[in-house]
Amino acid sequence: MLDKNIDLKPYNTFGISVKADYFAAFQDVSSLARLLRDNWKKNITILGGGSNVLFTQQYEGLILRNEIKGKEVVKEDDDFVFVKAGAGENWHEFVLYSISNDWGGIENLSLIPGSVGASPMQNIGAYGVEIKDVFHELEAFNIETGKLETFNHSECEFGYRESVFKRALKGIYVITSVTFRLNIKHEINTSYGAINSELEAKGIKSPSIKDISDAVIAIRQSKLPDPNQIGNAGSFFKNPVVEKAVLTKIQEKYPEVPFYPIDDNHVKLPAGWLIDTAGWKGKRIANYGVHSKQALVLVNYDDATGKEIYALSQKILDDIEGKFGVLLEREVNII
Ligand code: FAD
Ligand code: EPU
Repeated sequence: MLDKNIDLKPYNTFGISVKADYFAAFQDVSSLARLLRDNWKKNITILGGGSNVLFTQQYEGLILRNEIKGKEVVKEDDDFVFVKAGAGENWHEFVLYSISNDWGGIENLSLIPGSVGASPMQNIGAYGVEIKDVFHELEAFNIETGKLETFNHSECEFGYRESVFKRALKGIYVITSVTFRLNIKHEINTSYGAINSELEAKGIKSPSIKDISDAVIAIRQSKLPDPNQIGNAGSFFKNPVVEKAVLTKIQEKYPEVPFYPIDDNHVKLPAGWLIDTAGWKGKRIANYGVHSKQALVLVNYDDATGKEIYALSQKILDDIEGKFGVLLEREVNII
């Protein structure tokens, strides 16, 4: 059964109100297969938690919400436990579940909204860790052949906020489960400076994975808006990778510009710094704007439209290109 003419506001963390012609949720692979078979003529978009999308217009087609649940240990040795999770599991709850079982590896990825199934889509990352560091394999349903396939690490072609599912195989697969390789012997990662400051403030010298998770949660809560209070989709743009010559030019005016070396000729620049320095941080236009504590996050205070937020992102993009000669790329999926 499909719901018709549904308002998607409760299904996206930006809180954008747009109608979808059709909407349905699936709880297992066979109901997904049936829905796809019965609706093959329609445009179809898969949705998890809706925390990385911006709807800019009425959706003419069928939105399918992934609600496949389940967690099981599929393999274990002295060093690792392999845990398979349904794609519709909530990501942060899965992180807490891993910590409660004393399995390490994803504690730095605490409090990222969304579903397990979307996590490899764009190789979610935060505080020095990316999904690719703990990924073992995933299962995905091929919309064209109706078959379930397994993808190993190299087949996913992970990159910075990238995978093959966002590129060559875009729109062809529905990820139905993900298997993670978690550590029994923990490897604490405090490479991200803010984590150390947080631990020091609490007087913690040898942190547990729970301590790391708590520190990450505290840092995130101090600068990122809670989607339950202010609509947003996290970082709206990616941090751009540019040639060193571009950095040198920016340094002439701003010697303090932060950057992260990538290779001999390239550096990554924090887009948040560029947008902040260009004067956008905290800017509010009617009911939407740029977050006051993190300039990389665009926010919907109330009833903004996706078109308005998209137009703001274009203004920022043009301004950053004009001021710094850097072309930003949107991280959020525009639908
Ligand atoms: P959705 O928004 O539902 O979908 C995202 C895309 O994936 C869409 O194109 C959708 O069609 C597709 N998709 C979703 N599920 C499937 C599936 N099962 N099979 C095939 N395609 C699918 N991201 C980070 O990497 N690091 C962060 O630190 C971070 N912080 C955030 C903080 C906030 C406050 C918010 C709101 C977002 C943040 N994000 C961050 C972005 C977001 O949480 C992640 O991208 C998350 O993985 C999205 O999951 P989702 O289930 O909500 O995906
Ligand atoms: N900065 C500013 N002003 C701002 C924001 C940032 O000057 O308004 C500067 C900071 O001072 C710092 C640098 O920019 O020097 C980086 O800032 P931050 O540590 O907040 O991280 P980020 O690069 O803005 C990235 C990810 C986040 C992730 C954090 C932590 C991207 C696009 N964003 O943000 O991911 O949580 O690092 O690892 O890579 C997301 O993808 O949605 C997301 C929130």
